[in-house]
Amino acid sequence: MRILVTGGTGFIGSHTLVELYAAGHETIVVDNLSNSNPVALERVEALVGKKIPFYQLDIRDRESLNQMMEQNHFDACIHFAGLKAVGESVEKPWEYYENNIGGTLTLLDVMRRHGCKNIIFSSSATVYGDPAMIPITEACPKGNCTNPYGKTKSMLEEIMMDMQKADKEWNVVLLRYFNPIGAHPSGTIGENPNGIPNNLMPYITQVAVGKRPELGVFGNDYDTPDGTGVRDYIHVVDLAKGHVAALQAIERKCGCAIYNLGTGQGYTVLQLVKTFEKVNNIKIPYSIKPRRAGDIAICYSNPAKAEKELGWKAERGLEDMCRDSWNWQRNNPEGYGGVES
Ligand code: NAD
Ligand code: UFG
Repeated sequence: MRILVTGGTGFIGSHTLVELYAAGHETIVVDNLSNSNPVALERVEALVGKKIPFYQLDIRDRESLNQMMEQNHFDACIHFAGLKAVGESVEKPWEYYENNIGGTLTLLDVMRRHGCKNIIFSSSATVYGDPAMIPITEACPKGNCTNPYGKTKSMLEEIMMDMQKADKEWNVVLLRYFNPIGAHPSGTIGENPNGIPNNLMPYITQVAVGKRPELGVFGNDYDTPDGTGVRDYIHVVDLAKGHVAALQAIERKCGCAIYNLGTGQGYTVLQLVKTFEKVNNIKIPYSIKPRRAGDIAICYSNPAKAEKELGWKAERGLEDMCRDSWNWQRNNPEGYGGVES
């Protein structure tokens, strides 16, 4: 298929490009580079052995999107582009609603005007709020999102479902990701956060590389095996392959389909730290800090629906995730920033 990939130079987008080419698809990438570096695309090109057409544009820019769509035909769009920092979204709600919702509305409109009504959307386990069931199936009711970022995901899901209800030519696949970590085993592409990382794994790798003195563990008094938060960490390569599998739903004209992309395994913060230490033979100093506002105790998926309907399941374990995250960080201590582009 010919696929428009928005946000394709980002963390999950760049890994998905590699898997799309491996499966024989062609892509065109759109990104405004607000949270990514064009070096990521060069690295992907080296991995796939092809030049990938790239448009540096903002999905809120209707004119440029229109021009790009006039020059290219697409069978489907995989839509990663969006702002994703939970804390920042609390400080800058307007910017998050405008970018994520405004940008997606423009994208959807330009797509339908050009007759492309197939979309795979990056949603998040965050839409379950404090989940009403564990493990979480797709039948779990959506919960209260405590931050504007999560609300944009939940609202965009509703918007796309309503559009599909009104116009059956649309096929909409909503992928609810759990916690993506890891990196491509080559160590040439990976997560490249700006400033102090908010998420656990990039924080750990920055401690490992000596950029930060210690990890703060947010709370050890949750009702979990060791008191620290439980999450469903998924290797980004498995997540990327989930998008290739999701194209089958589009081909089958699924209408609207929702899938959890997780492993079905929950691990605590300290289990992740210990596994990272063991696999990479590096000590990660940490201290216990108060709980982080908005965090929930336990979140992990039941991913059976994706396996049953798409034949996809995560194959990489926590040790692979820890080894590959470190391999990326060790080879790129400054992320893509250490490379002259
Ligand atoms: P990322 O920031 O690395 O990638 C997002 C990309 O979108 C960036 O390259 C950024 O420059 C681009 N972008 C942002 N706004 C844009 C706009 N208006 N026009 C064009 N490009 C724009 O993030 P990621 O981790 O790769 O996440 C990809 C998607 O998955 C996001 O929508 C994110 O919300 C979602 N998601 C991520 C996680 C996670 O933990 N990483 C979890 C659940 C869902
Ligand atoms: N944690 C720490 N110290 C840190 C960072 C995190 O102890 O420095 C803990 C958190 O308290 C939590 C766990 O590590 O228990 C995971 O935290 P992350 O910030 O890595 O991930 P979250 O589960 O909070 O959220 C992430 C993304 C969201 C997304 C969600 C589900 O940030 O955008 O996964 O996909 F919605």
